[in-house]
Amino acid sequence: MKVVRGPAGMSRLAAGWRRAGLSVGFVPTMGALHAGHGSLIRRARRRDDRVVVSIFVNPAQFGPNEDYGRYPRTWRPDLALCRAEGVDAVYHPDAEAMYPEGLRTEVEVKGLSDLLCGKSRPGHFKGVATVVLKLLAAVRPDRAYFGEKDYQQLVILKAMARDLDLPWGIVGCPILRESDGLALSSRNRYLTAEQRQASPAIWAALREGARAARGARTPSEVVKTAARRIQAIPGARIDYVSLVDARTLAPAKRLKGRLRLLAAVRLGATRLIDNVPVSL
Ligand code: PAJ
Repeated sequence: MKVVRGPAGMSRLAAGWRRAGLSVGFVPTMGALHAGHGSLIRRARRRDDRVVVSIFVNPAQFGPNEDYGRYPRTWRPDLALCRAEGVDAVYHPDAEAMYPEGLRTEVEVKGLSDLLCGKSRPGHFKGVATVVLKLLAAVRPDRAYFGEKDYQQLVILKAMARDLDLPWGIVGCPILRESDGLALSSRNRYLTAEQRQASPAIWAALREGARAARGARTPSEVVKTAARRIQAIPGARIDYVSLVDARTLAPAKRLKGRLRLLAAVRLGATRLIDNVPVSL
C-alpha cells in the first residue's frame, strides 16, 4: 500500500493504473476510519481494480465554532484498516498542499447547500464541494464512493458532477449501523455512555416516521411522528426533522414517490445525523 502526500504524486500513480487498463475507485474520507468507511472501501474493491482512500481533515468545511481542532486524528489505526481492506493507495495531503494559495476558488452548489444541515452549518457544503472536486481532480477515478449517511452531501456532490460535466461517477452506498441501529460515525466517540445508550432512538424515530407515511395524510404528520419520538430522548435537541424529495431535497408536498426522512439531533455537544428512505 502506497501513501501519497501531494496531488502531483497522486495523479501520476492513478494515471499509471489507468494506462495499464485498470479501473480506479476512490473513497474520500476525513480519517478516524470505522466500519462504515470500510463498507465503502469494500464496495469499491468489488467494482474497481485499484482503490484509493483519501484521508484529509478539511478545514474549509468546519465552521469557526465547530470541532476542527478536536476532530479525531487516528493515523495509525486508519492505515491498518486500509491495509486490512486491501486499499492500494492512501492519499494524505496536508492543508498546505491542498490550499497553497489559501481558499481562493470555491465551488458552491446553490439551492441545495443552504437547507437542512446547511442552515446550521453555513459554508459547510461549499467546503465539502471544493475539497471533493480537488480530490477528484488529483485522483481522476472511474468512480468515487460516498455514504448515504451524509445524504445531503451525496445529493450535492451528484449535482456538482452533473453541473460541471465531471466525468467521474458518484456512487451512493447504504448506511452501516451498529447492531442497535446507531449509524456509524467518527463523531460517535464524543458521546457519553448515557448519550450512546439513548442514541439508537434517532433511527427508531425515523423508521417510525417512515412507517407512519403509509397511513398519513400529509408530510407534516410524518415529520411530527418522528419528531415526537426524538423529543422523548433524554437530553436531545432537534436541529431539524424533515421529509424531502429524495432527488431535489425540496420539502415533500405530497406523500408520493421517492422521499427521504432526515434528522439532525444534538445530544449534549454532539450533533448526530441520520436518514431513512420513504418510498410510496
Ligand atoms: P467522513 O465523515 O470521513 O466520511 C467519509 C465517507 O464515509 C462519506 O461518504 C460518508 O458518507 C461515509 N460514511 C460515514 N459513515 C458511514 C456509515 N455509517 N455508513 C456508510 N457510509 C458512511 O464525509 C466526509 O468525511 C467529508 O465530508 C468528505 C466527503 C471526505 C470531504 O471532506
